[in-house]
Formats: sequence, structure tokens, C-alpha cells
Amino acid sequence: WAIFAPYVVAINTLKKQRNAVILAHNYMTPEIYHGIADVVGDSLQLAIEATKVEADVIVQCGVHFMAETSKILNPSKTVLIPDMEAGCSLAESITADGIAQMRTQYPGAPVVTYVNTTAEVKAASDICCTSSNAAQIVAAQQSDTVIMTPDKYLAQNVAKQVPHKRIVWWDGACIVHERFTAQDLNDFRTYNPDTRIIAHPECPPEVVEAADFSGSTSGIIAYVERERPAKAMLVTECSMASNISDSLPDVDFVGPCNMCPYMKKITLEKVLWTLHTMQGAVEVDAAVADKARIAVERMIDLSR
Ligand code: 13P
Ligand code: SF4
Repeated sequence: WAIFAPYVVAINTLKKQRNAVILAHNYMTPEIYHGIADVVGDSLQLAIEATKVEADVIVQCGVHFMAETSKILNPSKTVLIPDMEAGCSLAESITADGIAQMRTQYPGAPVVTYVNTTAEVKAASDICCTSSNAAQIVAAQQSDTVIMTPDKYLAQNVAKQVPHKRIVWWDGACIVHERFTAQDLNDFRTYNPDTRIIAHPECPPEVVEAADFSGSTSGIIAYVERERPAKAMLVTECSMASNISDSLPDVDFVGPCNMCPYMKKITLEKVLWTLHTMQGAVEVDAAVADKARIAVERMIDLSR
């Protein structure tokens, strides 16, 4: 912490001068999560919080689609991202043309799009979802067939929870979660039978099936806080366990985790730079934002 302290002090001072708030995703490193964030959460919580910001500036400590979502929901604010290259393999896997292709293939079926997408893709969709409300959003659709984009694994996991719907999906995946295998989990369980295994729904369905619980990043945190297992394996991004381990000293976090190279582009140095220079502003074309806002707000309304 000694090496981070000067940055934390400088950022927190500059934050006040700029009238800025920092919205940070649960995958941020502990020095960001505990040192400078005003709000932490999963994708849905951060989107809802963005609508409530009254400060002039939002610094999004997360990936680009999260900053775009904040801008879409609160367009009069300056939304800064400390690194424009903080992308997401899911967001890169589909364009608005891909949505049009799916609509041609499945005429009349509603398009439920994961928030891990660009504003253009959201604008071409009927409604968004996150990992915390995907099953609820799909179940609420009138049509028997529902298109889910772009995460095929989230779609396959939701299909099990909403068996009365025919779900068709795009072929996208998260490079962090697709690397976990059911074999890894089962081997781990063999030697650590008392470990609670908790997987994010971006993992392949056989991985989620081999786990004891699956939920969004905040769902995972809430589960561990509630259940207090002696040992827990978080089958997700590495910073999750680092961020909560201090407040849960009775829980031993074990097992492998994977790093998201995009989330890890956000560092204290870059947050200080973006606040200092006010560079890194995220802009969304107004017409695109208007359409994308409808899809995101429909999701928020259905999640209340
Ligand atoms: P959550 O909405 O669960 O926080 O997930 C966002 C994400 O990018 C996970 O990889
Ligand atoms: Fe995208 Fe996966 Fe990184 Fe989340 S963890 S931002 S889904 S690449």
C-alpha cells in the first residue's frame, strides 16, 4: 500500500477539484476498489448508479462498454475512461450487422443483448441484460424464441434456467471465463471436498454445472458474505477474491483464477492522468445513444 498511497491521495484530491465520482467494477485491483472508488459493483449496479450521478464527471474504472453505458444513461456528464484500449472480447465479437443477421435468421424473435457490447449493438437490440438479470429478462419476453447475443455460454446457462423458451445465440465468449474447464473444477473438488465452488455465468455450462453456485460478480460476493464457507474457489477474475478477502478473514480463497487483460489496463497512474488532463472522454453519437438508451432502460425497468 505504501507505493499506492501518493496516487490514492492525489486522485482523491483531484476528484474533489474536478467534481468527479469514480464508478469501479468488481474486477478492479484492490488499490482502485478500496482506495479511490466511490461506488463499486457489477455491470447492472454500475449502470443504475450512473443514472444517479449528479457530479460533473464520471471516471469509469472498468472497460469501455461500461463507460459507454454511463454516457448513454447520463449524457450531460463528462465520462472519462483511463485507458481507451480497455475493451472486452465479447464486445469485439459482434457488430450491429451481426444483430441484423440474427433477425433475418429468426424473424420476429426479440434480441436480448448482453451489456458487454458497443452502443451501436445495443441500439440495434430490443433490450439489454446483464449476468444478474439475464434469465429474468429472457423469461419476460413474449416470444417463444429469444435471440441472445453475444455470449453463447451465458445464453446456454440461461437456457437451462428458462427451459420453456427456445434460445438461440451468437458465437461470442469471454476470454477469461471460457478458459475454465469442468475437469479443473472436478479435480479440485476431489482433493478439496470442503471447498465451495462459485462460477460466473460467462463460464461454459459444464463449468457452471460443476459449481455450487453461479451469479454475477456482485451475486458471487453476496453469496460468500452470506454463506461464509471455510474455503471458496471463485471461478472468475482474480481481483474478486483479493478485493473481499480482507473483510472475510474466516474464508480461505483457494484455487485458480484468470486475469482479464482489459480490466487490468486500468491503473492508478492512468486514473490520475485522466483526471489531471481530462483526456479519455467517451463520446456516443446522439442518435445511437437515444436508441441504445431504450434497450438499457427497458432492462433497468424490468430489473426493479
Ligand atoms: P458482472 O455484470 O457480473 O459484473 O460481469 C461483467 C463482466 O464483464 C464479467 O466478465
Ligand atoms: Fe469482457 Fe471477459 Fe474481461 Fe468481462 S472478464 S470485461 S466479459 S473479457
